[in-house]
Amino acid sequence: MEKLCYGYKGNIKVEVFDSYEGLSEAAADYIAALMLDKPDIILGLATGSSPVGIYDALTRKYEAGELDFSAVRSFNLDEYYPLSPENDQSYRYFMNKNLFDRVNIDKANTRVPSGVAEDVEKECAEYDAALAAAGGADVQVLGIGCNGHIGFNEPDEFFTKGTHKVSLSEATIQANKRFFEKEEDVPRFAYTMGICDIMQAQRVVMVVSGAAKAPVVKQAFFGPVTPRCPASILQLHRDFTLVADEAALAFPD
Ligand code: GLP
Repeated sequence: MEKLCYGYKGNIKVEVFDSYEGLSEAAADYIAALMLDKPDIILGLATGSSPVGIYDALTRKYEAGELDFSAVRSFNLDEYYPLSPENDQSYRYFMNKNLFDRVNIDKANTRVPSGVAEDVEKECAEYDAALAAAGGADVQVLGIGCNGHIGFNEPDEFFTKGTHKVSLSEATIQANKRFFEKEEDVPRFAYTMGICDIMQAQRVVMVVSGAAKAPVVKQAFFGPVTPRCPASILQLHRDFTLVADEAALAFPD
């Protein structure tokens, strides 16, 4: 892997790599260092295609005997509604497949919002209470949606606070339909941590790759802080690292 450069844009630490493998390895190194320092770390985890390389790299470190997940606890950002954990498009299924089943984490210590919870208030209150009781995430992993969403916090008129149920935007349904057999199968709702939950993480690391993400990266981190582009609030986070490849930072004019 070749690190091409690093620097700061305002509060944001930016690291640029020549490949997806390189940026994934670097983000995994960052998380691994935190895990070695705090074996009972609270990991805030994300789904989507972007963090898959991190989970592969963390698994390799575990297999090499470099990492121990036995005391780790985790909270995922979001889950589709209504999707059961057994559905292969659910984010619980994704996490089991891409990380939890590959390392020695105790699944009882992993939380993903329930995709079948009918009582919205109860599910949201319990999720936030558990996160607060754990002291919040030591590090939150993020990807970014093409409309600037983080977790499933869609563009809106205000920044959301805690875990809540959302209607997915048309842009998100279109972007995520590639994972489903047909567009009608994409759930129209989801549970997601709120922006406030994400901002309260001690550290945030976002991985972003590919030219398709360049316009939204420019909008989020080189434009105004606005709930119309939820990720833009990370400009104000006290410890935010953006790990990217060159294509994601090759901004259109
Ligand atoms: C989904 C997830 C987000 C993720 C986004 C981008 O909508 N809820 O957490 O960041 O997709 O996914 P990808 O990394 O596949 O572009």
